[in-house]
Amino acid sequence: MEFNESYFAKHIAPISGSAIRDIFKLLGKPGMISFAGGNPSNAALEPQVIGPIAKEVIEGIGAPILQYGASEGFIPLKESAHRYLLDSGVPCKESEILPTEGSTQGMDLLLKALIDPGDVVLVEDPTFLGALQAMKTYHAKIVAVKSDENGILPDELEKAMKEYHPKLAYIIPTFQNPTGVTLNAERRRMIAHLASKYGVIVAEDDPYHDLRYTGENLPTIKSFDEDGWVVYLASFSKIISPGMRVGTMVVSFPELMRKCVIGKQSSDLHCPLMTQAIVDAYLRKGLLPEHLTRIRAGYKAQLDAMLKGFEAFPKGTQLIKPEGGLFVWAALPEGMNATQLLSTAVENNVAYVPGTHFYPEGGHHNTLRLNFSNSPVDKINEGMEKLAKIFNN
Ligand SMILES: Cc1ncc(COP(=O)(O)O)c(C=O)c1O
Repeated sequence: MEFNESYFAKHIAPISGSAIRDIFKLLGKPGMISFAGGNPSNAALEPQVIGPIAKEVIEGIGAPILQYGASEGFIPLKESAHRYLLDSGVPCKESEILPTEGSTQGMDLLLKALIDPGDVVLVEDPTFLGALQAMKTYHAKIVAVKSDENGILPDELEKAMKEYHPKLAYIIPTFQNPTGVTLNAERRRMIAHLASKYGVIVAEDDPYHDLRYTGENLPTIKSFDEDGWVVYLASFSKIISPGMRVGTMVVSFPELMRKCVIGKQSSDLHCPLMTQAIVDAYLRKGLLPEHLTRIRAGYKAQLDAMLKGFEAFPKGTQLIKPEGGLFVWAALPEGMNATQLLSTAVENNVAYVPGTHFYPEGGHHNTLRLNFSNSPVDKINEGMEKLAKIFNN
């Protein structure tokens, strides 16, 4: 039987997903060098460390770890995540922390709690495709706010807050996906102030916070929060394991926290106790700082190799050099079309994501996002040479 589009619920209809999915289908091709994903490197994952911790957790806690747990989260993880968040410059109380299945779920819960069809969500331009898709599921009206090489422009954000009276703004302040841009400290302070002034929840999605390779750490937007309007989304995906699906959200308004917990009950009841307990044990053992030092060194070498590869790109290519994260963003000279050139690249066994998919309004076909974490340096060199040849042709 063939399914007709009208068979499906209206809330899933705005999600195309196809462009990226089509690229991803090709990535398994033997010999493919993929700069398209956003995965951490396999070399940054530690089965040799996580395996014994999992055994220790299951033997130490026994049957209760296999039981149902509280929607509000596994209490030991809330304690250890609290310490981690305070060390990360996120002032909060333990009662404000909700473990989530990655920051994806944190965003989904906020949308579930706040957004009726047609409600406006303000986003950076461009922004993370996964978040755009989640917003579309709730039939949000997505309004893109002008952003530059220092992040979203507070004046433009204020204008949009005045014009649209949104309930929610979504911002990735550090090594943004897709651009790698970091919002400067002054803008972070101004955004926290705007959130309070206009009563808009600012979702600060910060999964790349710990992946800084050069430069100085900046204060979080949450650290400037005046009375609770900033919700901080943290994730252990990029620094411990994406497959364990553990993150946390920090929600300061008890009423909003209650709605998120209720929303979570119908999504998954609670995060798996096993993975919460593993992340908790990992944090308590103090393993994270040394692990971060090791993976940052590897990622920096990969980033440097990719940046070097851009030297052979067509004259006039504009590049944002990130100080961390997993992506480099580039704009080919005006008139070039990275969306169309993708098929040539894939025929030549190299892939990237065309930048157009990250713009709520589309367009910007000369832009592209390249991931460097998932390819070793020799493959980065080879892939960038191939791309330079294709783009110079
Ligand atoms: C900005 C941003 N938010 C959220 C996610 C999803 O992360 P998680 O695994 O924590 O759900 C990603 C992953 O690429 C991301 O780039």
